[in-house]
Amino acid sequence: MRTVVEIKKGINWVGAVDWDVRDFHGYSTKKGTTYNSYLVLDDKVTLFDTVKKPFKNDLLHNIHKVIDPTKIDYLVVNHVEPDHSGSIPEIVEAIKPEKIFCSSKGHKALLDHYHREDWPYEVVATGQEICLGKRTVTFLETRMLHWPDSMFSYIKEDALLISSDAFGEHWATTERFNDQVDGAELMRHAVKYYANILLPYSGLVQKLIADVQKMNLKIDVIAPDHGLIWRDNPMQIVQAYDRWSKQECKRKAIIIYDTMWHSTEMMAKAIADGLIESGISVKIMNLACDHRSDIITELIDSKAVLLGSSTLNNGMLPKMADMLCYMKGLRPLNKFGAAFGSYGWSGESVKHMVKAMEDMKMKVFGPGIAQQFVPNHDGLKKCVDLGREVGAAINESVPA
Ligand code: FEO
Repeated sequence: MRTVVEIKKGINWVGAVDWDVRDFHGYSTKKGTTYNSYLVLDDKVTLFDTVKKPFKNDLLHNIHKVIDPTKIDYLVVNHVEPDHSGSIPEIVEAIKPEKIFCSSKGHKALLDHYHREDWPYEVVATGQEICLGKRTVTFLETRMLHWPDSMFSYIKEDALLISSDAFGEHWATTERFNDQVDGAELMRHAVKYYANILLPYSGLVQKLIADVQKMNLKIDVIAPDHGLIWRDNPMQIVQAYDRWSKQECKRKAIIIYDTMWHSTEMMAKAIADGLIESGISVKIMNLACDHRSDIITELIDSKAVLLGSSTLNNGMLPKMADMLCYMKGLRPLNKFGAAFGSYGWSGESVKHMVKAMEDMKMKVFGPGIAQQFVPNHDGLKKCVDLGREVGAAINESVPA
């Protein structure tokens, strides 16, 4: 996909579409992604961000459609993660920029990745401006959103915010603008992206939104480095980030389980019955079928997390251990928790899951339910009762 698109007069999308990528270090990208790069034609021709290394020719071909790449004066590196900077060595060789603008942390990260002391770095900080001719670029460092080096570039004459990873989605499309795709599907991709990448930095997202509001920037277009460009009501994605970063929950519970011989599965469904009776919306997610990144996407607005695992070799099943390692890193807040599972003769999995949830500061209900082998009617009733107990607590703490 090498179709250049003008996003504002004299500003072109020249990035690459990756239809094939299916894993982004643990995040399932079932619909691929894009690596967005923006070329601004002005007295100083400027390229904002590059693409992942295997796509360097796509980027160069796209630039060629607009201008001879050697006419590019400036390269702006908003973020050094290799999906945006992997092609920089070849691009710098091809365009020989007069200056490479980056944050101080970006400068260090570029040196640490590419070991080139001889490139023409120009370190910029929040509030610093550069003149391209008719346009002015203002930089805004966004440290830890989601790397230390991350920053935004804002072009005031075009009311254009180039937002690096923020406000993006992993979704490969031929369309470039949000008004050209299904809005509900776009938001599903956007919340998955937020939940799996930005959730641990939600406090910083809140601060960033407050800072940007104070700056009173006029924003007509938000152009992220992945996915669709927001030109129709661009503030809708900022408002969504505001909601997601507050980690507000619904009257919703997520039951995440893995099972050896279906006893833990029977318990999961009985717990769901108790929750449903209490009026709670329930997602049942089986680790054998559901990917960890889809589970986190459902977890973000769930008030309660109920974990089920059989005991295997004195511990939990490996898919649950994987899930908990991933979940802990994403630091979800404001959750209730409970654990359950079937066992044969030792039954440690429930204790381990309770400890993991306590470590994540969840309010855990009781010691959980450890069921020897197959639950009978009484065993399943205990599970229904646990669902009812958690359901009542959700109803008490979450406004209808
Ligand atoms: Fe899309 Fe943090 O790189």
